[in-house]
Amino acid sequence: MSARTIVVTGGGTGIGRAVAGAFAADGDTVVVTGRRRERLEQAVAEIGPGARAVDFDASDPAAVGTALERLPTTVDVLVNAAGGNTDLDRPAPRDTDLDGVAAAWRANFDANVLTAVLVTSALTPRIAEGGRIVTIGSIAARRGAGGYGAAKAAVEAWNASLATDVGPRAITANVVSPGLTTGTEFFRGRLGDERRRRLVDETKNRREGTTDDVGAAVAYLASPHAGHVTGQVLHVNGGAYLGH
Ligand SMILES: NC(=O)c1ccc[n+]([C@@H]2O[C@H](COP(=O)([O-])OP(=O)(O)OC[C@H]3O[C@@H](n4cnc5c(N)ncnc54)[C@H](OP(=O)(O)O)[C@@H]3O)[C@@H](O)[C@H]2O)c1
Repeated sequence: MSARTIVVTGGGTGIGRAVAGAFAADGDTVVVTGRRRERLEQAVAEIGPGARAVDFDASDPAAVGTALERLPTTVDVLVNAAGGNTDLDRPAPRDTDLDGVAAAWRANFDANVLTAVLVTSALTPRIAEGGRIVTIGSIAARRGAGGYGAAKAAVEAWNASLATDVGPRAITANVVSPGLTTGTEFFRGRLGDERRRRLVDETKNRREGTTDDVGAAVAYLASPHAGHVTGQVLHVNGGAYLGH
């Protein structure tokens, strides 16, 4: 396969970082994006010459628009990995604090839905015929988890319409939906042993997911072999949730 141009949002850490590293190891050119310049530069230094960093807030329409001139003019694969549960970054509002409740829900929507929708909207005209869009969802979309789960469910609904829109150009759009995946900044270092054990006990293979587990699913969907797979949600969770 000839070298491709890949954009990975959230590519400075965790799942996005692993995905970016795997593409670069295959000889592809990779652009990693995120808000923290230093994390991106660290990732680029580790990944090597095939990688480049572009820092911007993917939930901010003006920032995405400005970033466009630093992003590739032709893209073969877009991976939307930026996101996370923003409830982990702030104290939970009381139910009667409606402004606080609204702010918490909007934060999850911004982080998980708008990041993917804005970057994809901006880059879709640049995605080559036969290109690939892969967005990282979550098991939380199917199992609750408040505003975060609702946002990831919205990602799945959006992906279905995206697949319809880009299908005539032979571009596919799919969601990879991980369960517990360690080796990332997702839990902000606060995943306790008990919760970890409980989540592992829910899997059929009795183990945590790794960023490579998720990366392998992304690599398949991004490959030429997956041209007839679109509009789908691929669950990578050790059977903790049985997709259907
Ligand atoms: N780890 C898990 O157990 C798990 C399970 C299911 C789903 N997921 C999903 O997997 C994806 C990757 O998360 P991860 O586990 O790898 O955690 P992570 O290490 O925290 O990665 C999230 C990345 O997204 C970037 N990001 C967040 N908001 C952004 C914004 N507004 N603009 C630009 N970049 C933004 C962050 O960089 P900056 O902070 O520098 O912007 C960070 O690099 C997320 O969508 C997450 O919801 C994770």
